[in-house]
Amino acid sequence: MKVIVLQASPLMDKGNTSRILTPFLDGLKDEGADVEVFCTEKLNIGRCKGDLGCWVKTPGVCFQSDDMSMLLPRLSRSDVWVFATPVYMDGMTGPLKTLVDRMQPLAEPFMEVFDGHNFHLMRETLPHGKIVLVANCGFWEKDNFDPLLAFVKAFSRNVRRDFAGALLRPHGPAMRLVAGETLKDIFVAAHAAGRELAVSGRISERLMTAVSREIMPRNEYIDMINTGFEHILKARGLR
Ligand SMILES: Cc1cc2nc3c(=O)[nH]c(=O)nc-3n(C[C@H](O)[C@H](O)[C@H](O)COP(=O)(O)O)c2cc1C
Repeated sequence: MKVIVLQASPLMDKGNTSRILTPFLDGLKDEGADVEVFCTEKLNIGRCKGDLGCWVKTPGVCFQSDDMSMLLPRLSRSDVWVFATPVYMDGMTGPLKTLVDRMQPLAEPFMEVFDGHNFHLMRETLPHGKIVLVANCGFWEKDNFDPLLAFVKAFSRNVRRDFAGALLRPHGPAMRLVAGETLKDIFVAAHAAGRELAVSGRISERLMTAVSREIMPRNEYIDMINTGFEHILKARGLR
């Protein structure tokens, strides 16, 4: 199984997203998956200019010569696409959305009805595959992922790939506020989710729920975050 990971936290391996992503990818690798990680922070990808030249001038090819030229064939060859992102303003980070917009060359201009809905045809060079979301957010509730999850599910249908599950970590920064060993079950579940995906092609509800479990009560979390910022600002004479 070939897996391409689009890691969209600007903090890369130092961020909260990577704390869930790393064991998940280890689980995939343990089952023999071939995993390639690309950090949007290190990629040079221009914004889509919307001229549809990739449909009507140079079919399947964008006129912009940047890292998307290297990524598109890799995306086509990969069985699984993993979107790994923190929630920024209720969605994915901007560079990841820019990257997703630039996947337009993978589609044909021609339209069809698929699954009772109007979509573009996908090019034959893009075989079917799966999409997984790994995300974490700063607010406490799990419903903060709803807009992002809805987007990733809709996009999966748009490009005819199966949505295979999501590892969602609400109050992600809480992972830094408690002793590491109290989180072991979460990382074990993320690792098991990687193995499960490699073996069965899906992530079970049980493991997804285990990764999202409450780390601390909401009031306690808000108090700790507020106290932390209070200290930082006071130490800098800003409060
Ligand atoms: C610009 C910005 C916007 C954010 N917007 C949200 C948001 O809308 N909802 C939320 O729950 N957290 C939001 N957060 C918090 C991040 O999702 C959270 O800090 C996360 O743990 C960062 O992940 P990372 O360490 O992997 O980058 C935002 C953070 C930043 C920097």
